[in-house]
Amino acid sequence: MGRIIAIANQKGGVGKTTTSINLAACLAEKGKKVLAVDMDPQGNLTSGLGIDKNNLSYTIYDAMCGECNLGECMVIRPLDKKLNLSVLPSSRNLAGAEVDFIDEDKPQYILKQLLSSVRDKYDFIVIDCPPALGILTVNSMTAADTVLVPIQCEFFALDGLSQLIYTIDLIKKKLNKALEIEGVVFTMYDARTNLSLEVVENVKNNLDQFIYKTIIPRNVRLAEAPSFGLPINLYDSRSAGAQGYRDLADEVIKNKLYANL
Ligand SMILES: Nc1ncnc2c1ncn2[C@@H]1O[C@H](COP(=O)(O)OP(=O)(O)O)[C@@H](O)[C@H]1O
Ligand SMILES: [Mg+2]
Repeated sequence: MGRIIAIANQKGGVGKTTTSINLAACLAEKGKKVLAVDMDPQGNLTSGLGIDKNNLSYTIYDAMCGECNLGECMVIRPLDKKLNLSVLPSSRNLAGAEVDFIDEDKPQYILKQLLSSVRDKYDFIVIDCPPALGILTVNSMTAADTVLVPIQCEFFALDGLSQLIYTIDLIKKKLNKALEIEGVVFTMYDARTNLSLEVVENVKNNLDQFIYKTIIPRNVRLAEAPSFGLPINLYDSRSAGAQGYRDLADEVIKNKLYANL
């Protein structure tokens, strides 16, 4: 059965989308069957994987509204001759989800119900969450087995983390008993500054969570890749960013939390 990972942090710009795209692509490179889900109305995962947001008949929003089935909105993105990544693309309309789904019977479970019909077909389903703790993130965490939290190596890294962990605990209590925090991954690490190192040490000392050994470096190739519609392993396979996300994919595959899924 597919393992569903929500990549979440209510802060913007911490590397959620970069991690979602490149973790998904590196898992696919390692022979895993992967589905990437774009739950952010901004649609950066969708466009970062080279999918034209303005030219889609259906999106995950339509599926959530019951206007199409998952197969109709799914885009198969060929990464390589042999490698496919399946994508559920986002729509700007998701921005109205808070109001749109208000009359639904169980608005928190819409994504879970949709994914339950396809999770058997995948080894991993990676969900890119929006930078907020609203209904879209609640749907993502309710559908997920684990939450992976990217933390940017900057001075305010710990700000807001207690609120995020509180939300995850609340969802675990009320909506998804099996949910686990899979761990945190540091992103945008700059070896040239003492600050990055201080942030990593500070978070390690203050956060009682599993921390991935892999630390994603700040790497300009990672920032460039989305404008070419490519994940880092295809944009610049030998870059430090590609190596970082390959290492993270290896660690994710080995994570003990998954052993029982
Ligand atoms: N490791 C990195 N090195 C360099 N730039 C990065 C790295 N990770 C993310 N970025 C850039 O930082 C910005 C924010 O990252 P993004 O993944 O979009 O964050 P979020 O989805 O949390 O808002 C983007 O412009 C992205 O290209
Ligand atoms: Mg994003």
